Amino acid sequence: MANVMITRLTAFDRLVHLGTAASFVYAFLSGIGIAFPKMHWLLTVLGGGEFARWLHPWAGVVFSVFGFLMILSYVKDMFFDTDDIKWMVGIVHYMTNHEEKLPETRKYNAGQKMYFWITVFWGTIIFLVSGLAMWFPDAFAAQVAPWVPGMGVRDLVLLATVVHEVMFIAAGAFFIVHIYMGTLGMPGTLSALATGKVTAEWAKAHHPKWYREMVRKA
Ligand code: HEM
Repeated sequence: MANVMITRLTAFDRLVHLGTAASFVYAFLSGIGIAFPKMHWLLTVLGGGEFARWLHPWAGVVFSVFGFLMILSYVKDMFFDTDDIKWMVGIVHYMTNHEEKLPETRKYNAGQKMYFWITVFWGTIIFLVSGLAMWFPDAFAAQVAPWVPGMGVRDLVLLATVVHEVMFIAAGAFFIVHIYMGTLGMPGTLSALATGKVTAEWAKAHHPKWYREMVRKA
């Protein structure tokens, strides 16, 4: 079994992941550079202050397009079941490398599903809507006015800024954990992105139910 490889992601899944990741990373880092004066140097690294400020919302638009494609291609494996609740309750076993004490997972575990719903699903919607409100405040306020009487352009921009920042904190925290788990935290996982395949040992150890489904289908 040592060299048996199992297909985990299609070429389309990997392309969509690449587009989502590249646009998110640019928007995330330039967002940090814009928001925190001590981090302005990041904008220089990202192509220059003015350029990075201009590109930030466009990177956000690209993220929304890829995020939408990611929702379409990944959502079928992201619905929660009762085992996911038990998995979340026992998450400490995952963090201490005792996955065998947790309910067996299908293609994705409950943590990965939460990452998908918060950063990809809600991230795509919330970053886009709040970003557009800050980018085109007058047009946005005109659209919102009939629904929320009394909300002026200033209130709207303030609300959009707070919503954008809260989403940034939530998505950013999950993103840092995601990078760690996809690389150093779980050796062998990055191969799913690089080649589309993972070893049978990896699949059996981390996603046993999915592994058995794949073996049955083979
Ligand atoms: C830029 C650095 C990134 C690295 C190194 C990375 C790494 C990975 C890896 C190795 C996988 C496969 C996991 C598996 O098959 O079990 C994966 C899956 C995934 N990635 Fe990323 N990723 C990155 C950025 C992103 C970003 C920015 C997003 C979305 C905003 C994202 C969303 C996802 C989702 C939804 C999955 C499937 C579920 C999951 O594994 O959490 N990734 N990523």
